[in-house]
Amino acid sequence: MKVAVVGATGMVGQVMLKVLEERNLPITELIPVASERSVGNKVKFKDKEFTIVSMDDAIAVKPEIAIFSAGGNTSLEFAPKFAEVGTVVIDNSSAWRMDPTKKLVVPEINANVLTKEDKIIANPNCSTIQLVMVLHPLNIKYDIKRVIVSTYQSVTGTGKAAVDQLNSEIKGENSEKVYPYQIFKNALPHCDAFSDDDYTKEEIKLMKEPKKIMGDDTFNLTATAVRVPVQGGHSESVNIEFENEFDLDEVRQILSETPGVVLQDNVKNNEYPMPLYSEGKDEVFVGRIRRDLSQPKTLNLWIVADNLRKGAATNAVQIAEYLVGNNLV
Ligand SMILES: NC(=O)c1ccc[n+]([C@@H]2O[C@H](COP(=O)([O-])OP(=O)(O)OC[C@H]3O[C@@H](n4cnc5c(N)ncnc54)[C@H](OP(=O)(O)O)[C@@H]3O)[C@@H](O)[C@H]2O)c1
Repeated sequence: MKVAVVGATGMVGQVMLKVLEERNLPITELIPVASERSVGNKVKFKDKEFTIVSMDDAIAVKPEIAIFSAGGNTSLEFAPKFAEVGTVVIDNSSAWRMDPTKKLVVPEINANVLTKEDKIIANPNCSTIQLVMVLHPLNIKYDIKRVIVSTYQSVTGTGKAAVDQLNSEIKGENSEKVYPYQIFKNALPHCDAFSDDDYTKEEIKLMKEPKKIMGDDTFNLTATAVRVPVQGGHSESVNIEFENEFDLDEVRQILSETPGVVLQDNVKNNEYPMPLYSEGKDEVFVGRIRRDLSQPKTLNLWIVADNLRKGAATNAVQIAEYLVGNNLV
């Protein structure tokens, strides 16, 4: 199977190559793609060097699967061109996520919506993926009424240039700024661009995508997304109001039995999820589970995951594995 990795030199693309190395897709030919700036450069995959090719050269090879992590505009322009030659595109950008003709997939939740006709499949936003991994099993059991989420997002979520900005600021060097302010020693309530309603695009993604993935638009969700000088993963403080009463031990039991979710919830031993320990892991970690004492049927919890793994690369590769395993590609 020929697999193209578009954006292979980027923050997500590099992790994508690592995840593809670790897992078992039957890849016979890897086709790394990046911008014209990088064509001819090499990337490493399974101890071999592969030459980066242009979009047009990759399309000419007609790969069975192309995993895109190269920005929304690149996806809008090139995903249809790959689809035209029969390639299934799994896209990490926000370009297609809310398009009603495209599926938005977290395999543990809704891989069953995929069919052979899906030629462009959207991978959800990183902060959405870790959120729905926890919301979905609880929604099935207790029926969610409203969610309030506040995020603490890693600079790796903004790409290579943002990590460079933080590292330069730590060293006291003057660097090119990706963010409008210094990020070292700071917290910016500003992830992605502001839209007309004063929410950021990241907040809007968090408010819309869960309903599509979970196939349920009966609950309400509001979000505040904050960038923090952290690298290992995104954290989320989540307040969930249910229609039905819940039992805390049962909540812990449900989450501990949810595939892909790891319960880390023992405050007596100072055990709770942290981005430092989620880095490089595929699971979504959940802890600080407690009742909201200010109103009934309401829960507080804390979710952490590596945004480059489950939030991007791992989820995309899981989609590819599902397609291959179910003869959809
Ligand atoms: N970081 C995250 O946590 C995360 C999570 C989910 C989704 N995403 C999405 O994934 C995408 C990439 O994010 P990132 O953080 O990896 O960004 P990044 O580190 O800035 O990397 C961008 C990649 O895209 C390539 N690229 C840029 N323009 C291109 C073009 N015209 N044609 C082909 N390749 C092009 C770059 O190649 P060069 O090296 O040649 O410039 C590089 O490989 C974005 O759409 C982002 O929204 C990111």
